Amino acid sequence: MVERQHGDDPLARTRERMPVVESLRAEFAEAEPLAGWTVGVASHLEPKTGVYIETVRDAGARVLFTASNHETTQADVVAHLDAQPRLETFVAADMDREALNAARRDLLANEPDLLLTDGAELLAQAYESDVPTEGLVGVAEQTTSGVHRIEAMAADGTLTVPAVAVNHTPVKHRFDNVHGTGESALSNLMTTTNRVTAGSTVVVAGYGYVGRGIARKARSLGAKTIVTEIDPCEGLRAHMDGHRVMPIAEAAPLGDVFVTATGSCRVLRPDHYRAMRDKALVCNAGHRNVELGVELLRDLAVSQADIGEGIARFELPDGDHIDLFADGELANLAGPYAQGHPAAVMDTTFAALLLAGRHLVETDRDPGVYELPDDLDRAVAKRKLAAHDVAIDDPTDIQSAYRDAWRRDDLLAEWDE
Ligand code: NAI
Repeated sequence: MVERQHGDDPLARTRERMPVVESLRAEFAEAEPLAGWTVGVASHLEPKTGVYIETVRDAGARVLFTASNHETTQADVVAHLDAQPRLETFVAADMDREALNAARRDLLANEPDLLLTDGAELLAQAYESDVPTEGLVGVAEQTTSGVHRIEAMAADGTLTVPAVAVNHTPVKHRFDNVHGTGESALSNLMTTTNRVTAGSTVVVAGYGYVGRGIARKARSLGAKTIVTEIDPCEGLRAHMDGHRVMPIAEAAPLGDVFVTATGSCRVLRPDHYRAMRDKALVCNAGHRNVELGVELLRDLAVSQADIGEGIARFELPDGDHIDLFADGELANLAGPYAQGHPAAVMDTTFAALLLAGRHLVETDRDPGVYELPDDLDRAVAKRKLAAHDVAIDDPTDIQSAYRDAWRRDDLLAEWDE
């Protein structure tokens, strides 16, 4: 991980890049909308999430925090949070998957009222273990994959609380997934491996918000881009955006770099690895390393060696090699130089999560998956524009009336200003 020069406060420089969260922090510290509530937070633990966790606490809550992934925890951030009042730690940087699961169980045993989650792991664990969940009033989820899991819980009748799908709100996925992951995944990958994007063939699996951001960034740096998809509409979109589109089996022998962004599993399989060029580089920017079928690659390989921090080289039976980045964990959050999304992007995501948390304790809804109310989504975008000193227009009265009209006479009327 990167050594930061920060004096006593590892979050100081990050706060400067998060003006929307900081403005909410000032308001929440006064109004304390979460006073009396115990909030369980699961997230990647690095400086941006540190700022967010502090803000939940400053809103009046007792905060129990843990990690959403055992590979991405930064020890100095955990130590900084752990030293503060009303922040209780259920994670350590050296925990493996099992130890983290045990720590999450301990967190849940404290019976949080509200969960702010990443990947829905904490909620899934609550329902799968014997900890009581009756006191839970809601959950706000920030990732695409996490929302899919909560929708699955709703579909099979498991979900007992209202869940706000923060990922699905425009101010989150249009910026965080597209620009945040798009920039940070490729930057971290190329810096760590010292490869060049220009002139390389970059294969992006999945052309959703994340895949679009990565493909756009790769092309802007001079890469030849290939997109693979399973959704005809997204495949067509990639084609119309000017990328080559083909099945992964056809793309396998053509790529220098492969990035998965699907949220699915085993997008790359042994036949694809066998077909790849010698020393092709594979990484994952989606949710878990199962996207790359890492276990299949391990089974296929005759040997494995670490050839640099964050890079494992697998030798295949025919003597060719595959370089795997960060063990298939998130390309922007794992590995020695990982800094995750830029703080300026996570500013809007965490602001949306904070407003979702306040919304959940202030409203009484049936169990189910809900979008963040539109006025809250827009409020975040408005604050972000203001922070960047960017102004937009308000519709005139006539424009508003025109938008709402449907009678032909009204539409054709000569409007007086
Ligand atoms: P999305 O749902 O907009 O896009 C996923 C795309 O992958 C869809 O178009 C789908 O048709 C396609 N896809 C699914 N299976 C496929 C397969 N086998 N081959 C090719 N394409 C396939 O989701 P979004 O928002 O783009 O997120 C993608 C993943 O990235 C999710 O797991 C999400 O949780 C994760 N994510 C990761 C971030 C990070 O920091 N690395 C940040 C934001 C999201």
